[in-house]
Amino acid sequence: MAEDQNLRVYDSIVGLLSSEENPTPLVRLNRVIPYKHAQIYAKLEWYNPFGAVKDRIAANMVRDAEERGTLGPGKKLVEPTSGNTGLGLAMIANAKGYTLQTPLSAAIPLEKRTVLRFFGSNVIELDDTLCPAPGAPEGAIASAMRTAESEPDFVMLNQYQNEANLLAHYRTTGPEIWRQTQGKVTHFIAGMGTCGTITGTGRFLKEKRRDVKVVGVYAEDGHDIPGVRSQRQLAQTKLYRPDEYDHTTEVTTRESFDMCFRLNREESIIAGPSSGMALVGGLRFVPDEPGVVAVVIFPDNVFKYASSICRHFPDLCPAVASGDGQAAPSKNEQFLERMFENLKNPYDTVRVDDLRQSLQAANKPFVVDVRESELYAQLRIPDSINIPMQEIPDRSAEFPEDREAPIVLVCGIGKFSKHWTLYLKSMGYRNVRSLKGGVSEWVRKGCPTQSAGA
Ligand SMILES: Cc1ncc(COP(=O)(O)O)c(C=O)c1O
Repeated sequence: MAEDQNLRVYDSIVGLLSSEENPTPLVRLNRVIPYKHAQIYAKLEWYNPFGAVKDRIAANMVRDAEERGTLGPGKKLVEPTSGNTGLGLAMIANAKGYTLQTPLSAAIPLEKRTVLRFFGSNVIELDDTLCPAPGAPEGAIASAMRTAESEPDFVMLNQYQNEANLLAHYRTTGPEIWRQTQGKVTHFIAGMGTCGTITGTGRFLKEKRRDVKVVGVYAEDGHDIPGVRSQRQLAQTKLYRPDEYDHTTEVTTRESFDMCFRLNREESIIAGPSSGMALVGGLRFVPDEPGVVAVVIFPDNVFKYASSICRHFPDLCPAVASGDGQAAPSKNEQFLERMFENLKNPYDTVRVDDLRQSLQAANKPFVVDVRESELYAQLRIPDSINIPMQEIPDRSAEFPEDREAPIVLVCGIGKFSKHWTLYLKSMGYRNVRSLKGGVSEWVRKGCPTQSAGA
């Protein structure tokens, strides 16, 4: 059989990489859009062969480096990534016989880190922000640069400054949208990470039609949306060219996850959180007028973000959200919980508002987050320290010496931290309490948080 894109028959998986003749789908949004006249289309990038918009740049950066002669037989790839570029590169590397090393932030969802290893990449986990921070000396970008500089076999394609990233979108994403909308596109919207998507696609579309509006969407500081950057982090990306965009706008983590939820529930579109972010931001600049055709990039699907969803929708999966990793509390825990309920002592818990206030006071409580280190790295209460609950007995020396010191224990939803207040009481601490509702309630109330590297 011959390759035939119309019949969707391909000679190999790389034939599935999108192009003007073989585009990713554009799907009209019908329910989450408050419009009568304007048409909003989502471009579903998980229809690329390795599951994300980044497959385009992985293929193009490798092709470009081979053409320049910097990459060839015997060479090894090293690339800092927030996940999707690594996943695409790992598969292109497998197809072409290269090895790949991916230094990345330990805060990246477990799903992405696991699959990256499964695809064959040598994953090096580091203390960095979700999207690697160029200035961080111990971060993923610095690590990749050190490897590429000190070991001559290694090649770093560097998606943050490689024009082949931007050109992948200029040559594929832009022409696809132009053809798919028959030249009718009026607005182009994308979330911003390296900014390859927005700059490359926006540039192509504006060359075709000067009045196409280009809208770039970024996340709030300390966000929990893998793949995209906050305004502060954007300044560090060489492909960020704000003079080529008409608008940029900030979206919160909460807004992004809520829209992601609505896309899945109401549109039956399996979009991930950065798709929700792009849509929320983009709609602020799209008027409801006849003739308006907006295209929003949906970078990847929701399946890579199960652990993030547990954090942001703790009611959906309470056992996981509590950070204990267990499906159900053990007998011992049930006993403790009953005992605790029986005590019904209101002084054993502290409400979010009260903790927030007491953190401003002189005699600040000593806040201990008892969740797994991974969850703590992703999102935490500022100035809290991390002692995972099963380590408390061995790490008792890290608690204050003063048995009167105010201590607040924190977990995902305030259930397991409650149990451990009893343990601390058994050690003689008289002023120990558990945060009611845990980190979930802290986030829900819009209190400040910190994430890895922040
Ligand atoms: C999930 C996700 N959304 C959005 C983006 C942003 O795309 P770009 O890097 O082209 O700005 C990325 C990039 O990694 C991503 O992984």
